[in-house]
Parts: sequence; C-alpha cells; structure tokens
Amino acid sequence: MTDAQARQPVLSLRGATLRFDRRTLWQGLDLDVAPGEFIAVLGANGSGKTSLLRTILGQHPLSSGEALVAGEPVTAGNPRIGYVPQQKLADEGTPLRARDLVGLGIDGGTFGFWPSRSKRARVDRLLADVGATDYAEVPVSTLSGGEQQRLRVGQALASDPVLLLADEPLASLDLTNQRAVSELIDRHRRERGFGVLFVTHDVNPVLPIVDRVLYLAGGRFRIGAPDEVLRSEVLTELYGSPVDVIRARGRIIVVGTPDAGHAPHDEHHDAGHEDVCDHNPEDTEAVVL
Ligand SMILES: Nc1ncnc2c1ncn2[C@@H]1O[C@H](COP(=O)(O)OP(=O)(O)OP(=O)(O)O)[C@@H](O)[C@H]1O
Ligand SMILES: [Mg+2]
Repeated sequence: MTDAQARQPVLSLRGATLRFDRRTLWQGLDLDVAPGEFIAVLGANGSGKTSLLRTILGQHPLSSGEALVAGEPVTAGNPRIGYVPQQKLADEGTPLRARDLVGLGIDGGTFGFWPSRSKRARVDRLLADVGATDYAEVPVSTLSGGEQQRLRVGQALASDPVLLLADEPLASLDLTNQRAVSELIDRHRRERGFGVLFVTHDVNPVLPIVDRVLYLAGGRFRIGAPDEVLRSEVLTELYGSPVDVIRARGRIIVVGTPDAGHAPHDEHHDAGHEDVCDHNPEDTEAVVL
C-alpha cells in the first residue's frame, strides 16, 4: 500500500441524502472513514441504517450527494467491500458446509465444485482466522448463531476488503459470542487496516473499540466520538424531544427515544418511550443502545 492509499479514506460521503417517496431517511451526510477506523452506526428501527449500507453497496442510488469507496464511485458488486448482511440464519437442511460458505466469499462459487489447492489453502486460513477450523466440514444449518456469524465474517473478509459493512452482526448472540465477534472484527481491522461500519442496537459490547458513532434519527444524524454523541443534550436536540442518556456500571442506556418514523418536529410526533431494540416494548421503557 502506498502512503497516499494509506491516507485515502476508504469511504467518503458528501452531502449524501436518501429519500423514499416523501420520507427522508438522512440528508446532508458528510463522512470520511479512515483506513482501520471503526464506526458504530446507531439509530432506531427504520432510521435508515441498512439503507445506508445498501447505498454504499450500490444497491440503491443516493437521492443526492456523492459516495466514494477508496476514491472510486460506488458500484454494485464491489469486491473491495465486505458485507455481513442483517442476520438470516441458514435454512435447516441446507447442505452447505462451513468451508463452502467461506469459499463463496472468495469466488462466489464461480470456480466450480472442485476447489483449487490455493483456494483451499485460503479457505483454511480464513476458517482459522475466525476460529472456525473445528467445524469446517459441518453443515452450516447445524451450527449455533454465534458459529454461523463468525463464518459470515470470514466470508466477508475473504475478498480482502478495504471496507467492512456489518449489519447488526451481534443480533441474537449471547454475551460471549457478542464479545467474540466484536473482537474478531476489531483484530482484523487493526491487522489489515480496513474501515468498518458496524450497525448495532446496543453500542455497549463495542464501546471499548468504537472510534466514532454515527447516530441516525428522524432524517438527521450526529457523528463523533461516543462521549460527544451519546449525551442527553445531543440526542435531545437530534430527536427534538427529551431523551436521557444514562451511564450505569459502565453501560450506556438511552431512555425516551421516539419512533424513527417521525421527523423531529412532525406534528404527529409521539414523544413516548418507543422501544428501538428487539425487546418487547412492554418489557421496558429503557432503550439500550
Ligand atoms: N427500496 C425501498 N423502497 C421504499 N422504502 C424503503 C426501501 N428500502 C427501505 N425502505 C424504508 O426505509 C426505512 C428504513 O429502512 P432500513 O431498513 O434502512 O432501516 P434500519 O435502520 O436498518 O432498521 P432496522 O433497525 O429495523 O433494521 C424503512 O421505513 C423502510 O421501509
Ligand atoms: Mg436494518
């Protein structure tokens, strides 16, 4: 890598705006992601996190503004981007083995059924990198959520990306696996120098490794270090209604966020305590981000 490449942002967004019909998901988004930088993308259900990743993947055009990946305009199927899509576990009965899943990240299955020796060696290395050697030959559908998620990270890293987009990679994992998957991505972004956009509803498992937070809400956003963005006054201003950020035993809890579907000053705006986690809203008023 040349010095210029090492300094060039792996992702640049300038005035990036996405609208569906009349609804603005986010607008005027300016963001440069440096090589090796880890950015947590936060926001309620429907705030436009997945749509942001899909835009960078070239699956939706921006409504306005510009998006560059390693200095080049966004294109569909860009091998410089690794993608861990929002979780879907393997269907039961899928004959795909763990090593097949990782191998798909190298060639998308285009090199046929019998892998070359060099591809096999690369798959072995990737399986070892994500701690999946022990279950390399096992059908993916029989693996636990955490084991499958490690493989999907391995698959996303297979093309040696400059940018990793991970959409809720911790969803439905227990604390041990949340830590394992976070540490895996953290170690590889340091070793290989790829930037990371990491979508999560709970920032706590990644708080020690996050460089910056991108918080989407009501068509607007805030970007900054976790301590700059995850503050009561900042989120109250962003949402346009009272929000409390509470720190308890080293965890950050956000209370009182309204529904993502409403603009901050929408007249139908409901400033209730809408849950933005996958928890049952009846269970708790507290929103853990
Ligand atoms: N192709 C599309 N056409 C129209 N509306 C869309 C399209 N894709 C997404 N949307 C809408 O954009 C909004 C944001 O969706 P998105 O999936 O980006 O949210 P999200 O922040 O990832 O939410 P979650 O936390 O639930 O995953 C939703 O209201 C969704 O219905
Ligand atoms: Mg999503």
